[in-house]
Amino acid sequence: MDYRSEILRLKEERNACIVAHFYQDGEIQDIADKVGDSFDLSRYCASTDKSTIVFCGVHFMAESAKILSPEKTVLLPAIDAGCPMADMANVEGLRKLKQKYPEAAVVCYVNTTAEIKAECDICCTSSIAEKVVKSLPHKQIIFLPDRNLGQYIAKQVPEKEFIFWAGFCPTHNALTTMHVEEARHRYPNAVLAVHPEAPPEVVDMADFTGSTKQIIDFCTESDAREFIIGTEEGILHQLHKRNPDKSFYMLRYRFICPNMKKTSMEKLYESLRDMNHEIILSEDIITRARRSLDRMLQV
Ligand code: 13P
Ligand code: SF4
Repeated sequence: MDYRSEILRLKEERNACIVAHFYQDGEIQDIADKVGDSFDLSRYCASTDKSTIVFCGVHFMAESAKILSPEKTVLLPAIDAGCPMADMANVEGLRKLKQKYPEAAVVCYVNTTAEIKAECDICCTSSIAEKVVKSLPHKQIIFLPDRNLGQYIAKQVPEKEFIFWAGFCPTHNALTTMHVEEARHRYPNAVLAVHPEAPPEVVDMADFTGSTKQIIDFCTESDAREFIIGTEEGILHQLHKRNPDKSFYMLRYRFICPNMKKTSMEKLYESLRDMNHEIILSEDIITRARRSLDRMLQV
């Protein structure tokens, strides 16, 4: 079956838009109306006039789209595509932490469940985490769930006191200084760009640290010709498309988020055909979680 033309036909019929994260397979990125990092995709979902959003990414991203556009139908073609980091935070533990630090603001990475977002003061993505933290009058910041991102932000904002959650991304956290040393040895002229979900000792060795979109923009604008990439390999699709004359090497062999790779053209087609795998959230959770996402979008 020609999935591409069937998906495009169904998309019109259903008045739907397709959004895809940079970690999706190339053919999924190419069929999407919008490809982006978590922040751009949230903004796009909040503003689209289509009645259905088909989210090619992981569960927390589709949930955020639903929270920002509750009147719309939000479909997640790979309904079992979760984010292990998001699942590392729990409401009970967060409530205990809030009791222990009543003066602290609670900042949650967008990689959290809707229930966690409902308990937080403000959300952030990796691209605007520093801006979000700086916008708060509080001295103390409870930051969850990614300790690596939290530690990276804490270095940019030394005037704040951070309380970290012990979460991490299994894909990025597997990076080591040995990977950096090997890659630098093999590609001595290449510039190293990493995602802030990487461990601090790896981030410290990088030439550039940023969200997926920031890494793409950095490599595209840079005069350098060779880059070592420290994030999920789906990002190579846009890097090669936008920079056909530059070379990109992965910091680690098979640098893959297995959940991001659960979306396929077949699943995307089936989800649109049957209008299934819909994200459903209670009104109460949507109302409470929306505050923290809206605040993030206003920063
Ligand atoms: P970005 O916001 O950089 O796209 O990151 C999302 C993510 O899940 C990284 O692992
Ligand atoms: Fe979650 Fe890591 Fe996959 Fe991003 S790369 S979706 S943080 S598991």
